[in-house]
Amino acid sequence: MENFKIDVDADGIALITFDVPGRSMNTLTSGVMKEIPEWVERIKTDDAIKGAVLTSGKTSGFCAGADLGDMAGGMLAGGSLQDAYDAGWKLNGALRALETCGKPVAAAINGLALGGGLELTLACHYRVVGDSPKIQLGLPEIKVGLFPGGGGTQRLTRLVGVQAAMMAMSEGKSFRPNDAKGAGIVHEVVPVGGEVDAAKAWIKGGGKAVQPWDDKSFKLPGGGPYHPAGIQNFLVGNAMLRKQSYGNYPAVLNLMKAVYEGVQVPMDAALRIETRYFIKTLMTPQAQAMIRSLFLSKQELDKGAVRPAGQPKSDPKKVTVLGAGMMGAGIAYVQALAGIETILIDRDQEAADKGKAHVEELLKKRLSRGQIDQAKFDALLGSVTATTDYGLIKGSDLVIEAVFENREIKAEVTRRAEAQLEPGAIFGSNTSTLPITGLAEASVRPEDFIGIHFFSPVDKMMLVEVILGEKTGEAAIAKSLDYIMKIKKTPIVVNDGRGFYTSRCFGTYVAEGLAMLEEGYAPALIDNIGRMTGMPRGPLEMHDDVALDLSVKIAKQTREDLGDAYVPMAGWQIVQTMVEDLGRYGRKNGKGFYDYDTKPKKLWSGLSELAPVKINDSTPELIEDQKQRLLYRQAVEVARCWEEGVIDDPREADVGAILAWGFAPWTGGPITLIDQTGLKAFVAKADDYAARYGYRFKVPQLLRDMADQGRTFYGDFAGKQKAAA
Ligand code: NAI
Repeated sequence: MENFKIDVDADGIALITFDVPGRSMNTLTSGVMKEIPEWVERIKTDDAIKGAVLTSGKTSGFCAGADLGDMAGGMLAGGSLQDAYDAGWKLNGALRALETCGKPVAAAINGLALGGGLELTLACHYRVVGDSPKIQLGLPEIKVGLFPGGGGTQRLTRLVGVQAAMMAMSEGKSFRPNDAKGAGIVHEVVPVGGEVDAAKAWIKGGGKAVQPWDDKSFKLPGGGPYHPAGIQNFLVGNAMLRKQSYGNYPAVLNLMKAVYEGVQVPMDAALRIETRYFIKTLMTPQAQAMIRSLFLSKQELDKGAVRPAGQPKSDPKKVTVLGAGMMGAGIAYVQALAGIETILIDRDQEAADKGKAHVEELLKKRLSRGQIDQAKFDALLGSVTATTDYGLIKGSDLVIEAVFENREIKAEVTRRAEAQLEPGAIFGSNTSTLPITGLAEASVRPEDFIGIHFFSPVDKMMLVEVILGEKTGEAAIAKSLDYIMKIKKTPIVVNDGRGFYTSRCFGTYVAEGLAMLEEGYAPALIDNIGRMTGMPRGPLEMHDDVALDLSVKIAKQTREDLGDAYVPMAGWQIVQTMVEDLGRYGRKNGKGFYDYDTKPKKLWSGLSELAPVKINDSTPELIEDQKQRLLYRQAVEVARCWEEGVIDDPREADVGAILAWGFAPWTGGPITLIDQTGLKAFVAKADDYAARYGYRFKVPQLLRDMADQGRTFYGDFAGKQKAAA
């Protein structure tokens, strides 16, 4: 065996060490899946073996789960449904053989165990986990449009009950060791390094080789679907999950079915049921789209897929952040965490200190959660220097400015900072709206000037949009990406343009909601339709979140810049009145489309005067039509960005859209949406919307040409990659 090592000790306990060669983390590759039945068979048949302990040989973790690239390709490659089902059954069959091998098997979980990694341990009779804040245990499959297909739906449910299991699986949330113990997922938490000994001790102490569910007296915790309390779980759970997912995620529905049907039958049959629903889910366009974008493409971007080839690898050690406001402090925090020495500069010491205090607050949260210890806390906080002294910039590999969104102020700090920069250092602007090429005019080294656009809140948002000015050089791109990879965010690289890629396309969602408002749709209906498409919030809610006054400011700036070419958005008057006459700025002052002085927020009653409701129809057909309208409007803008060369990689377009503004994840992103709809069908439908709502739905000529030629975005991209290889 390549991936597992077996050492039998003097007591007859086999230590099975999981260690995939040449990889930093264990995953369930096809090779691993093939070997599991081999060692299970050995435990079962080798009389010298009395019991077994399964552990990991990696310091990085126990096992991160299925190898999704392998799996999506492998299981569906055969062609027939039966082939896929047989492939899917392999793991379940092997794990069932493990838990019924007749000898006690314990998992010594010495690192994170996610997805199939955790499922592997659930098929062991006993679980010991190290007490480390780095260890997470969970079943996150739902995040890529799947659900646990290695017995997780059946074993977790039988361990912790329907309600807790459904919550954990439908949200994909993970547990820290002690929480996992509290929930009943693991048996024992021991100091790091003591996992194997504790697991062996359990076996020597007479550990039983029978799973609870294979015991005659087993009862499902909390009750099954015919138990009075259990009925409640299924009814309420079903309603809740349907509401949350709006039917967009087949994985959620199939998960419920697998659990509901599975708990009513013995384990062998239950696992067959799980496999059947799992394969069905894996074959849905939603799962295929999510696996590609949210897992494969994201991983490729994280590893530097769009980094210019041939540029030497850099490792930023000292980075200055100009402006210690909300964004600057957030940036200082994430880079300090990554071990980067940080100079945080503001206009006066008080403002700089305030920024550092925010860093301290965020670090304290980590401390209280046990993610860092006091010494680490002190070191990280100590690595951030709050100052007004530009002299301290010296030696920085990178400067990021996050001062006020004002060209003159940005120009001034650029000049002052560049005076301190050595050759090779780069300057990044975190501007959210100002074109980079224009800002670079203040720079004496425009080839080193680049946009590095973070999202708020910086500690939670995983995307960073890199924007190229006309003169930005390849070295600056490479260095920016090395920095972003070092702080463990996902980079996309786009060309300059108004609103770049993310703000521009996100803006269309908000704007289309405004147009609907002007047409006379009820505000609550508009926001509900937005959520039904799979967006995190409705367009009016999101408008409140980004701030109405900001959108007035941007509109004015755009009008100034574009002159006669400027076309105001439909419904624009409503926002202008709200901001300028009524002081309603959105969530930030508690007054926008909603009033925020109550919880939950309430729709602002004055809105009906500004935007009277004229459409009282809410048939399913109308709702479907308007849902598509919101998605199409965004996707058309993405296609325009493509035609204009703002973006040219479908992975960046899709991953960027989902991570930056929450574009409906089930679609796999706007480009995948267009591809999966089929370009011809997409163009036809967009034309229909254009006829009804105006030229903003007009698709670029490029899309028409591609449709005529039978091309797709990903098809073209694959061709391009092949040609390059
Ligand atoms: P903020 O108002 O919270 O912070 C700006 C900070 O810059 C303040 O602390 C201010 O004292 C400081 N500052 C102003 N002039 C300065 C100077 N001459 N030298 C040094 N410091 C100076 O603003 P926020 O929200 O942090 O935004 C900063 C930048 O980030 C803006 O360009 C904004 O467009 C951009 N941005 C904002 C996002 C957001 O959601 N707020 C998202 C992405 C980018």
